[in-house]
Amino acid sequence: MHNHDLFDVLIIGSGASGLSLAIRLADQAPRARIAVVSKFALNEGSTFYAQGGISAVLDTQDSLDSHIDDTLKAGAGLCDPAIVRLTVNQGKDCIEWLLAHGLPFTQERAGDGSSRLHLNREGGHTHRRIAHAADATGQALFHSLEKSATAYPSIHFFKYHGVVDLITTQEPGDRHERIAGAYIYDAGKKKVEVFRARMIALATGGASKVYLYTSNPDVSTGDGIALAWRAGCRIANMEFMQFHPTCLYHPDARSFLISEAVRGEGGKLILPDGSTFMEKFDPRAELAPRDVVARAIDHEIKRLGVDCIYLDISHKPADVIRDHFPTIHARCLELNIDITRQPIPVVPAAHYTCGGVLTDSHARTNVAGLYAIGEVACTGLHGANRMASNSLLECLVFARQASIDILRRLPDTPLPPALPEWDESLVSNSDEEVVVSHNWDELRRFMWDYVGIVRTDKRLERAKHRVDLLKKEIAEYYGNFKVTSDLLELRNLVVVADLIIRSAIQRKESRGLHFTLDYPAPDESKPPRSTVLSIDQDQTVNPSA
Ligand code: FAD
Ligand code: SIN
Repeated sequence: MHNHDLFDVLIIGSGASGLSLAIRLADQAPRARIAVVSKFALNEGSTFYAQGGISAVLDTQDSLDSHIDDTLKAGAGLCDPAIVRLTVNQGKDCIEWLLAHGLPFTQERAGDGSSRLHLNREGGHTHRRIAHAADATGQALFHSLEKSATAYPSIHFFKYHGVVDLITTQEPGDRHERIAGAYIYDAGKKKVEVFRARMIALATGGASKVYLYTSNPDVSTGDGIALAWRAGCRIANMEFMQFHPTCLYHPDARSFLISEAVRGEGGKLILPDGSTFMEKFDPRAELAPRDVVARAIDHEIKRLGVDCIYLDISHKPADVIRDHFPTIHARCLELNIDITRQPIPVVPAAHYTCGGVLTDSHARTNVAGLYAIGEVACTGLHGANRMASNSLLECLVFARQASIDILRRLPDTPLPPALPEWDESLVSNSDEEVVVSHNWDELRRFMWDYVGIVRTDKRLERAKHRVDLLKKEIAEYYGNFKVTSDLLELRNLVVVADLIIRSAIQRKESRGLHFTLDYPAPDESKPPRSTVLSIDQDQTVNPSA
C-alpha cells in the first residue's frame, strides 16, 4: 500500500479562506505540515474576481451595532446573532491583518491632509464601510495572500488537484467517524491519489455554476458541499441562492460582474425607455438589499419582454468613473460600451451560495477533524440573504476561528491509519463523453428555469423529477467509467442541485432569497428556522438514498 505524504492539515481550496487559514496556521505552528490543494490554477476561484470589497466598521460615523443591525435585517430573521456579532467585531482586525500582508487598499485624503482608507457603499449597508482596492479587490487580495503563503516552507501547494471524496475512519474506541484523508484527482497525471491528513478544512467556495447564468468562475461547482454531504455532514439553507442584480449582458462577455459599488456611487437602474423603476419596489431604491433588487429587475424584464435593463452612471464626471471603476470601465470599453457616456446592459445572475456545510463558531462540522470555511460553509452570518461584501469578511474571520481550534486540538489528534488505494479495476475509459456534457447543460438550464429568482411548487416539483433522473444516470456513469474533471464536477453539481430543490420544497413561505408565488409572504405563525438536511436522515427515511 502506497499512500501520499501525511499532512497535519489538508486545506482544500486556495481562495481567501484557504490561503488565510494556511498563513495563520504556518505562522503559529511552523512545524505543522500543511497542504493546499486546488483543482485548477491557484487564482481560479471567486476570490480573484471580487470587485466591491470587504466590509468592516472603519469610519468614526459608523458603529459595530449598525453593521450588525444591517446584516440581521438583510438576513430576514435567519442570521445567528452571536455569529453576526463575532464576525463584525473582527472586521477592523482583519483589514489591519491584510494591510500587514501588503494589500494595497484604495486610500483617500482626509480633511486634515492625512491619508485614510476610502470606503465604498453597497446595498443594505447604512454607512460607507467597504474597504477596497479600486474595483478589483479580489485580485489584490489574492496576490497579497499568495505572496505571503508561498513564503512559508511548511505550506505545500498542489495545483490541478481536485478532491474526489473525503475519507473518514472509525477506530476501535472512537464514538464517531473522524476525518483521515482524501482521494484526490491529479488532472496532469490523470490519476487518483490518496492524501492522509489529521485534519481537513474545506475552503472550496460556492455552487453558483449549478445555474446557467452566473457571475462565478468555472470552479464554483459546489464540490465542498457534495464532499461534506457524502461524508455525513449536515447541510443547511441551500434554498438561499443569491442572484447578483447586475451582471453585464453582452454576447461576448461571460460572467462579468458590474459591482454593486457602481450603484453605491449613484448609478441608476433604468428601463429601455430611460425611466427609473426601483423606487416603485423599495424606498431604498438602488441600494435595497440584493434579493429585492434582483427580483425587481426580473419582474421588469418579464413584464416588458426585454433581454436586459440598464445601469447608468454616465451622469457622474468621466474622470471619477474611470478612477473608481478602472476594471469595469476597461472591460466595457473592450465591448464598445463607454460607461462614462452610455448605460450598461445588465441582467441578474447566480452569484453566491448562502447555505452550505453547517458549522459552529470555530468552523467545525459534525465530522471530527473536518472544518468548513468561506462560501462553502453555513455559519449563520448570512441567514436568508447575504449583505454585499460580508462574504470576504466571513472568509477571513472563519479562517482565523478555524486556526484557533485546529492549533488547540492538533497535539491530541491521532495519526490517520493507512488508507486503501483508489480502485480502478472495475471501470474503463468512457466511450460516451457526450453524456457528461449533455447532463451539465440540462441540469444548469432546468435549475435556471425552475429554481431561479421566482419559484412555485409546480416548478420545484418539475425540477425534482428531472434531478432524480439525472442522479441515477450520473451514478451509473460514475460507477462504470474512469473519472475526469468534468465528470467529478457533474457528480457534485447534481448533489447540490438536489439539495437546493429539496430545501426549497421544504420552505413553504417566501423569505429573503427564497421567493415563491405560492407562498408570497414570510410565515409569521412560527419562529423562522433553518432548513437542515443530512444523508443519515435520508437513509433513515429511504435506505437506498
Ligand atoms: P473561492 O475563492 O471560490 O475559492 C475556492 C477554491 O476551492 C478554488 O481554489 C478552487 O479551485 C478550489 N476547489 C473547489 N473545489 C475543489 C475540489 N474539489 N478540489 C480541490 N480544490 C477545489 N464578496 C465580497 O465580500 N466582496 C466582493 O466584492 C465580492 N465580489 C464578488 C465578485 C464576483 C464576480 C464573485 C463571483 C464573487 C464576489 N464576492 C464578493 C463573493 C466572494 O468573492 C466569495 O464568496 C469568496 O471569494 C469565496 O472565497 P472562498 O475562499 O470561500 O472560495
Ligand atoms: C460587488 O462588487 O457587487 C460584489 C460584492 C459582493 O458580492 O459582496
